[in-house]
Amino acid sequence: MKTFLTETLGIDFPLIMAPMHYVSNVQMVKEAMKNGIAGTFPSLNYRKDGELESVLDELNNFKATQNFSGTYGINLIVGKSNPLYEKHLKICVEKKVPFYITSLGNPKQVIEAAHSYGAKVLSDVTNLKHAQKAFEMKTDGFIAVGQGAGGHAGPYPLHLLIPSLRREFPNLPIIAAGGISTGEGILSMLTLGASGVSMGTRFISSLECAVSQEYKDGIVNASMEDVILTDRLTGTPSAVIYNDFIKKLGVKQGFFERTLSNNKWTKKYFKMYIQIRGMKWLEGKVIPGSKDSLWMAGQSVELIKEIKPIAQIINDLKKELNHSYQKLLQLNG
Ligand SMILES: Cc1cc2nc3c(=O)[nH]c(=O)nc-3n(C[C@H](O)[C@H](O)[C@H](O)COP(=O)(O)O)c2cc1C
Repeated sequence: MKTFLTETLGIDFPLIMAPMHYVSNVQMVKEAMKNGIAGTFPSLNYRKDGELESVLDELNNFKATQNFSGTYGINLIVGKSNPLYEKHLKICVEKKVPFYITSLGNPKQVIEAAHSYGAKVLSDVTNLKHAQKAFEMKTDGFIAVGQGAGGHAGPYPLHLLIPSLRREFPNLPIIAAGGISTGEGILSMLTLGASGVSMGTRFISSLECAVSQEYKDGIVNASMEDVILTDRLTGTPSAVIYNDFIKKLGVKQGFFERTLSNNKWTKKYFKMYIQIRGMKWLEGKVIPGSKDSLWMAGQSVELIKEIKPIAQIINDLKKELNHSYQKLLQLNG
């Protein structure tokens, strides 16, 4: 298949395995590369000294020595809430990471650094205003994050966000993210004008993902009603599966947290503190043997009913896409 996205990243199939905090790992990214798509991970998944460098060496070596058509990219949380941002950007540039996904802050510095050696940048956007800013900074494309996404979901449905971004930015790749876990879903996004899809939640329930079995089963057993938004994790609404841990944690910040988040003297530091605290919570609660269960996931859990190897997930998505396209042709024939 050829789309704006496959051409921009040089991949076979217009799919990105989305970056996921404490969930994405090198094994998953390699499987993505082997199967002709783009695998990604947040740089913050490798925070110890020397760890990110060695992971990037491993992936660059894998890409150079194997004849696969997939690629990999790094997600950088841009700005002050990420204390390792500058350090990680420098390492990524040194290691010539093929492409970046920027989230949260201003992507200008990443775009300039990536373009200095011909790498591409896709910027997370949830509305037209942020897309316009990233466009002016010369981003190479958008990840349009819509309603129902895992992590920080956007406010708008993709069937509005994608066509409006396509209308405003006809010459850039637009990748749909949020609530997509099937080949039919991919076809629907291509029909709306997307150049590809980014899927997170679908890949949590893969064999190669190293989270606890309970988390994977939690996804397979959850319905869309079980996914709720909580402010308590990072200060920004995050999609999680409702369970005993979330019941204890709550979904709204209390008076004290809200006051410190809004006060002009404290908000910068308090928001940084909340982000770091949320990361620490996640760190201990997704791995096998965790006492508590903090399961971030999007509404696409509704359609995920099996834990499968990544190669099979990708193969099934291709078959479903083809099948739904044939069905559509018959309808219209
Ligand atoms: C467990 C989990 C962790 C995530 N962590 C990040 C992250 O660190 N950085 C980021 O930009 N997006 C993160 N996301 C959002 C994904 O990159 C992607 O936009 C989202 O998963 C797409 O929606 P879907 O889950 O419905 O496929 C995360 C999503 C999940 C489910």
